[in-house]
Amino acid sequence: MIPLRLGVNIDHIATVRNARGGDHPDPLRAALAVLAAGADGITMHLREDRRHIRDADVFAVKAAIAAPLNLEMAATAELVRIALEFRPHACCLVPEKRTEVTTEGGLDVAGQRAALAPVVAALREAGIRVSLFIDPDPAQLEASAAIGAPVVELHTGAYANGLPGELDRLRAAARLTATLGLECHAGHGLTFDNAPPVVAMPEVRELNIGHFLIGEAIFTGLDATIRRMKAVMAR
Ligand code: PXP
Repeated sequence: MIPLRLGVNIDHIATVRNARGGDHPDPLRAALAVLAAGADGITMHLREDRRHIRDADVFAVKAAIAAPLNLEMAATAELVRIALEFRPHACCLVPEKRTEVTTEGGLDVAGQRAALAPVVAALREAGIRVSLFIDPDPAQLEASAAIGAPVVELHTGAYANGLPGELDRLRAAARLTATLGLECHAGHGLTFDNAPPVVAMPEVRELNIGHFLIGEAIFTGLDATIRRMKAVMAR
């Protein structure tokens, strides 16, 4: 089976830093540590309210790493302008609500084709690999392919929350990516315990994991945490 990449979302290093308003812990130091431990890429969500990651963090990480940087962002004019300036390896377009604690659901690509198609096109023209964060729903997958996105990231949150039938929905969605010619990523709420059935889906090429890994690192350190997740993801 094709190897599975791990993108580590380092947003919550910035959450802890911002709690005190200083510069510790430094997201760049975390990025370098997780890459040294075997992560395949760094994921950062530049939220419109900059509640954790800031523009300067993206700039610093992009300048310091050779590994792929995946910038999660809302499809707004401001964020698109910033992405075109930073030129990350990839952009994952996500829905964003100011009041949410985390990205609650997938992007409604089927309902917003006209607004999203030019954003996908502009980022692609700049050489950025575009991914759309969607629920494992056939209509969203088909719309993603129709507007020219090369990659989708399947929202695994409902599965991680133990909702009945969600694993089957994810499996069916992953299979459909192959039919539609989309590269398949997955993420949200994944842990050592619930990742294995997702790892077993042959279409999935990348997992993006944040909250659990950063939380677990409090107990065992970033290095051991990332190494263990990579072992869980070994095919
Ligand atoms: N993928 C996307 C698109 C996300 O928005 C998030 C959360 O920021 C994640 C993956 C990681 O989710 P978690 O922090 O629950 O592992």
